[in-house]
Amino acid sequence: MNKKKRLLNIGIIGCGLIGKKRSLCLGKKGKLVAVCDVSQKRIQEVKKKNNKIIEFKNWKNIFSVKNLDILIISTPHNLLARIIKFGIKKNKINLFVEKPGVKNFSEIKKILKIYNHVKTKIKIKFGFNHRYHESIILAKQLIQNNQIGKLMYLRGVYGHGGNKDYKKEWRGRKEYSGGGELVDQGIHLIDLSRFFLGEFNSIKFNLNTFLRNTKVEDNVFLMLKSKKKIAFLHASWTEWKNKLLIEIFGKKGKIEIYGKGGSYGTETLTLYKMIKNREKPLKKVKVFRDSLRSWKSELEEFYKEIRSKKNSSKKNLKNVYENFKIINQIYKKNDHS
Ligand SMILES: NC(=O)c1ccc[n+]([C@@H]2O[C@H](COP(=O)([O-])OP(=O)(O)OC[C@H]3O[C@@H](n4cnc5c(N)ncnc54)[C@H](O)[C@@H]3O)[C@@H](O)[C@H]2O)c1
Repeated sequence: MNKKKRLLNIGIIGCGLIGKKRSLCLGKKGKLVAVCDVSQKRIQEVKKKNNKIIEFKNWKNIFSVKNLDILIISTPHNLLARIIKFGIKKNKINLFVEKPGVKNFSEIKKILKIYNHVKTKIKIKFGFNHRYHESIILAKQLIQNNQIGKLMYLRGVYGHGGNKDYKKEWRGRKEYSGGGELVDQGIHLIDLSRFFLGEFNSIKFNLNTFLRNTKVEDNVFLMLKSKKKIAFLHASWTEWKNKLLIEIFGKKGKIEIYGKGGSYGTETLTLYKMIKNREKPLKKVKVFRDSLRSWKSELEEFYKEIRSKKNSSKKNLKNVYENFKIINQIYKKNDHS
């Protein structure tokens, strides 16, 4: 069979909220053939009575499935690095690892070292799907086309109402998650700030646990600075109405991105452009209704890469490294304050 024409065989480790969402976004070029979870209920929710899909309780065993092209890893964060290292050693199946990618900075440093020393043919990509939202892609194009002028600063708010049981769940326990809201949603704000403004060299922050009775933070206030640009960010587990708001300010206007579909509201991009001799900015609104688009586009890009000679794995690993470099500085300083 012509290899280019066959569907890519996909396995999923971790069939929770995101594993299930990924299974619905494989598109026309991917086929789910194997799943793994410690919970039988979660496995069944993803398999949907398709008995051709092989199931596993132990994640190591899914690596023995023949002709698997991609493993999607969407488990709690404490397992990510172990599975990546195992996958690199096996050198057989490409890995798509959900954000944050690892649990902490030291894990990504070790993985980068291993990846640089071991000759491997597998490709690795990390799930930072926010970069694939249509509004974010359009914003990048508008900025590149000089629609708002030289960038000055970005303001970002991301939050949900959390869960009163976080103390008992993996997300609220540092040994499983690596941290609280900073690692949960804060990392998306950091990643997007770097995507738009580049790297930062100064960090001011406040981490707070206002309400959740967890040892990890439920609110993160951040100011990331480079010589000429600032990202001013707030991520929260007490944002009672789910919210995503990214505003990017240039010297000639601003771009406002609101929502990502579902409980976060319809995804919208508004361009405000200052025009000579006009007091009010020109306003243009674009609405995006496919709330799964970013999840699909991200995987489609990986499929293309797998079928080509291109290999962005090092760049992808470096991106996780840069996100965690910031997170590490925050946790380190916070622990000593
Ligand atoms: N990109 C995004 O916007 C986004 C949003 C939410 C979560 N995430 C990320 O997705 C990942 C999963 O989050 P979630 O919300 O789906 O969590 P979840 O708790 O709903 O799912 C995790 C699943 O992993 C399973 N699991 C635990 N231990 C396992 C093991 N040893 N072997 C196999 N399976 C195991 C659990 O049973 C559960 O079904 C995390 O990395 C999270 O940060 C990304």
